[in-house]
Amino acid sequence: MRVLFLGDIVGKAGRRAVANCLPSLVDTYSPDFVIANGENAAAGIGITPEIVSEFLKIGIDAITLGNHAFNRREIESTLESEPRLIRPANFPKGTAGRGLTVIEKSGMRLGLINLCGRVFMSEYDDPFRLLDELIDQVDTPAIIVDFHAEATSEKSAFAWYADGRVSAVLGTHTHVQTADERILPEGTAFISDVGMCGPMDSVIGMDRDVILRRFLTLMPERFEVASGRSVICGVVLDVKVDTGRTESIERVQWRDVT
Ligand SMILES: [Fe+2]
Ligand SMILES: [Fe+2]
Repeated sequence: MRVLFLGDIVGKAGRRAVANCLPSLVDTYSPDFVIANGENAAAGIGITPEIVSEFLKIGIDAITLGNHAFNRREIESTLESEPRLIRPANFPKGTAGRGLTVIEKSGMRLGLINLCGRVFMSEYDDPFRLLDELIDQVDTPAIIVDFHAEATSEKSAFAWYADGRVSAVLGTHTHVQTADERILPEGTAFISDVGMCGPMDSVIGMDRDVILRRFLTLMPERFEVASGRSVICGVVLDVKVDTGRTESIERVQWRDVT
């Protein structure tokens, strides 16, 4: 089973680049499943029901989120009704939506889990012990975890904790692709951060002038998504359907696309 996972899609530029490049990505890699993190899809923060429909229409099979899952509150009803959209499972109990889903295509089943880290993040529930519970609820060995976290140390520790029990731990949130992709000894693929799909001449997707002013003056200012040409960042995984072990992880980085 081959899976293409795309990192955080940022704003209009990121959405346009993914929509335009997805046919060529599919031609190049022939994935069975395409998954994308959409937490920054709506003007850089959150996602709307319309964008979810747009993503599903262009061929994304499932969408994960992150700390910005609820910045557009109108997404709550879609989180309840659309099983292909998940948010971090370790939001407080009672939060709308789910953090685990199983998607199915051509007789293949893929479990997908979304969790947030806690280092330099909000006070989410313990993602480590929650992972144990979530794995027990999935009836297929092929499971991908989008671990949305800030600290490389926490991402790495989490991957070792999960090794041999899930197919991949894919870091998201920091928007810059890391070059540490590997398969851990028990068959779990890991990368600290998949990177983003969004405008290149930016500060992690945001307008660089605004961010620079904030650093230089400390004055509060609204973030704006940058425009212009984008980078598409992702990974391609080859997962054994019967064991859930991952045989290869390859970084994808298409620069200067529109
Ligand atoms: Fe993000
Ligand atoms: Fe994030």
